[in-house]
Amino acid sequence: MFIFKYGFTFLLLWTWLLSAVTAGIIPGLGDDDDSVCRTYRLNDVQYFDCSDRGLTELPETIDYDAQAVLLSNNNFVTFPEGLEKFSSVEILDMSGNRLTNPLPTYFQKWQNLRTLNLSNNNYDRWLNSENQYHIKRLDLSKNKISNIDTKAFEKMTNLSFLDLSENRIDDLPPNVFSDAKNLDTVILSRNYFSELPNFQSQSLRTLDLSYCQIAKIDPAALTGMSSLLAIDLCMNQIETVPDGIASNTLQELDLSYNEISEIGDNTFSALPHLAVLDLRGNEFREVWSTSHFASNPFLREVHVKGNRWSCEGFSVNLLLTYDFLTKEPPKIADAASLICYSPSNVTQLSWQQAYILTWHPTEMSKQTYTFMAVLIGVIIGIAITSCVCRGLMSLNKPSPSTSHPRTATESTTVSSNGVVVQPRVESVVMRIPLREDMPPTYEEALLMPRLNSSFHSLPDFIDEEDETFDRNCRRSRSIGDLTESRPRASERRSIRRTVEIRIN
Ligand SMILES: *[C@@H]1O[C@H](CO)[C@@H](O)[C@H](O)[C@H]1NC(C)=O
Ligand SMILES: *[C@@H]1O[C@H](CO)[C@@H](O)[C@H](O)[C@H]1NC(C)=O
Ligand SMILES: *[C@@H]1O[C@H](CO)[C@@H](O)[C@H](O)[C@H]1NC(C)=O
Repeated sequence: MFIFKYGFTFLLLWTWLLSAVTAGIIPGLGDDDDSVCRTYRLNDVQYFDCSDRGLTELPETIDYDAQAVLLSNNNFVTFPEGLEKFSSVEILDMSGNRLTNPLPTYFQKWQNLRTLNLSNNNYDRWLNSENQYHIKRLDLSKNKISNIDTKAFEKMTNLSFLDLSENRIDDLPPNVFSDAKNLDTVILSRNYFSELPNFQSQSLRTLDLSYCQIAKIDPAALTGMSSLLAIDLCMNQIETVPDGIASNTLQELDLSYNEISEIGDNTFSALPHLAVLDLRGNEFREVWSTSHFASNPFLREVHVKGNRWSCEGFSVNLLLTYDFLTKEPPKIADAASLICYSPSNVTQLSWQQAYILTWHPTEMSKQTYTFMAVLIGVIIGIAITSCVCRGLMSLNKPSPSTSHPRTATESTTVSSNGVVVQPRVESVVMRIPLREDMPPTYEEALLMPRLNSSFHSLPDFIDEEDETFDRNCRRSRSIGDLTESRPRASERRSIRRTVEIRIN
């Protein structure tokens, strides 16, 4: 019972608190007071921030020394009364309002006006102006501008960045930017152009014409832009790039996501400084020839992903182009983007794989080859090393077992003395352990060679044998590094003895 009662009270309290906060009854917990704009300092710039307040006119209390005036996302239909009282505006943001009227003349006195943001308003044209504004960055994106007067930017000599994206522009007067001597970047993406606009600018370096409906390119369209470095024509409807599109300065050409199906030897021949070429997502099938880029010595980056390359009738040309694009330094970031689309038996294979499969079906891939070569090398290396080691060990090991080549020679020598030659003495030695201090058994003695000379001449016989030994050792020594010179007499005897046992 109590729990229910307290629970209910708590719920009531909570509901009241929530509604109080949303209604703004309790100060500090709800939104700021709409009438009070925020002022703050950031990076040495004094801000006066009245954005997102649904204003139709400026509030009463204003910091007129502010350098950044933020009035975005309100309901201004004109530049508000009192704006002229600001003395040194550097940034004026009036994006997200409903402005339609031209810039007021008092903007002229703002010598340091860097940024004027009029994005997302209701402009439908941009008119000639006789006033000298100092604007550097002008944002006119997301309006409904379809018409721009020839002298619209004539007096904006400081203008360097102009954003006209998401408007309805389908053409520009050729001299519209001629007098904007500091213009560097113009963004014209998402407009209604059907062909590459042809205008004059001595200073323009970057031009964005992406997401328009450009289908036609006049080869001379860029010649009036004598400083142009980069042009973005991605997401248009270009089917053919005309021969000889010319620019002496252009370095980056983005033609990605168009409908281009072929290029030729003269397509880029008048772009001597071309360095970056983006041709992703087009309709290329036929593999290019390297001669298409013969006039572009500075080309260093080519993007080709998303084309449907036909690998039919694979030719030397394909290998040359593959080499051209992938050889050090590679012009293509990802060689795997050179993917065959047809014929069906090589679909999804890279050019290289398809080539190998077509012309060298029994060959393995390059990598496998390399791996195999390394493996064989390692095996040979190990074999040689172990042979050398074994050789060294056997040379260093004390006799008798090591001296068996010598033993053989010795046997021969002995045979000259009437003993039967035994090529495989060693095994016998192994089988019959020899003891130096033990005399031969009777049976052994019977089998011993008969001495031609008397017992007294035995030392001579041994000496003779020693000489033979010495000769052989010397010979051996001259080859290797035999440490031990001559076997002892007992070993010689044991050798002789083993010989006889073998005969048995
Ligand atoms: C203008 O304002 C819009 C939205 O308020 C913003 O996205 C854009 O970056 C601003 N433009 C400039 C040049 O600051
Ligand atoms: C605007 O350009 C003029 C000449 O083109 C120059 O003298 C002046 O310093 C520039 N103003 C600003 C704020 O950059
Ligand atoms: C794929 O088929 C084509 C004929 O359409 C043939 O000429 C080619 O040799 C085939 N390639 C492979 C790798 O089987």
